[in-house]
Amino acid sequence: MPRDGAPRPSVPTTLFDSADLVNPLLDTLQTYPFEKLRVLFAGVTPTAALKPISFGIGEPKHATPALIKDAIVGSLDGLASYPATAGTEALRTAIAGWIARRYGVTLDAATEVLPVSGSREALFALAQTVVDGSRPGAVVVCPNPFYQIYEGAALLAGATPYFANSDPARNFACDYAAIPEDVWARTQLLYVCSPGNPTGAVITLDDWRELFALSDKYGFVIASDECYSEIYFDEDRVPLGSLEAARALGRDATRLVVLSSLSKRSNVPGMRSGFVAGDAAILKRFLLYRTYHGCALSPVWQSASVAAWGDEAHVVENRAMYAAKFKTVTPMIASVLDVKLPDAAFYLWVDVRRSGLSDTEFAKRLYADYNVTVLPGSYLARDAHGLNPGSGFVRIALVAEVAECTEGAQRIVDFCHGLAKARAA
Ligand SMILES: Cc1ncc(COP(=O)(O)O)c(C=O)c1O
Repeated sequence: MPRDGAPRPSVPTTLFDSADLVNPLLDTLQTYPFEKLRVLFAGVTPTAALKPISFGIGEPKHATPALIKDAIVGSLDGLASYPATAGTEALRTAIAGWIARRYGVTLDAATEVLPVSGSREALFALAQTVVDGSRPGAVVVCPNPFYQIYEGAALLAGATPYFANSDPARNFACDYAAIPEDVWARTQLLYVCSPGNPTGAVITLDDWRELFALSDKYGFVIASDECYSEIYFDEDRVPLGSLEAARALGRDATRLVVLSSLSKRSNVPGMRSGFVAGDAAILKRFLLYRTYHGCALSPVWQSASVAAWGDEAHVVENRAMYAAKFKTVTPMIASVLDVKLPDAAFYLWVDVRRSGLSDTEFAKRLYADYNVTVLPGSYLARDAHGLNPGSGFVRIALVAEVAECTEGAQRIVDFCHGLAKARAA
């Protein structure tokens, strides 16, 4: 107050409301599928007679192997130093070694491999590195259904996502042939996911031939998300990786970047450890971006990751646990709904239309009556080209132990039998 007691004229301390001081592109982001599920289930009280079983979130639940925990404890001294964004030579070499053993492809550990804090952040950051949002009509092509990070990464990079619908009649392969020439001409980045979330489909060599040819013609970068590559059910049908496909087709990794992680392979989603590998020129720019972004892996995680990438025994054991679950659960669900064993990954992508319910209604009633959570497929896809390709499907994540998965599957069977009986009455 001035001495004379007269009120001071109010002077704005800022020209803008703080709510205006945000990136407007944030408003283009969609809510996450689990938030949509929360809204769907709001006000529903599941039966108290049955303990909850969640097939909703695709989070690995098997125990973290002792060799990784021991490596963490043994490298705690690493906390005393800042990590380099490029990672240690030991880790880059361990990753390059794993790629060579798994895919038969030799990469330069110094220039063609980079550790990242899990594939999620790298999938996002890669778009910020390669997409020039100032170019008119910038497009990022995404599969549909898809992992939602691709869409957010494209939007925040200033591009428009273009969705390539997956086709149930072709083992959920995306219909790339239907993408018009003028869209390809504006495409700067293509996300592929193989094995796919949520369909589990693995991209074939023929599909890779088509995608590489399109990339050569239009000059876009391919980001190949392969974080489920080690979860498969038949040791004679190991998922084809994009680097392996490139080698088989007599080409190098030009405009190709592979992303993978230890989260699912080694049951360490909390460690946040993965890698990108491929085109050295892109990785160089990516490293520059990451230096500013400040997402280097803790030295402790780096040491533990060296141990994890160097061991396959725990991965074989982990895979066997998934295989046992899929062997038991798939026929149970297939007795009442349309589903088949996927190529790989830990999801069943189930067509529920036979139940007479929509995917959201199916999920809601299953939750209410049997206390089982599944994710409606329409939440994992966008309306594109006249349909939502996730609609009519639910995603079942078989991440819990086998007994719990079997009990959950039995409840789904009972639920479907109940629906059929009610329909017949
Ligand atoms: C398709 C897909 N890509 C990437 C990720 C990210 O995994 P992470 O960041 O743990 O490597 C996930 C996680 O569920 C996923 O489903």
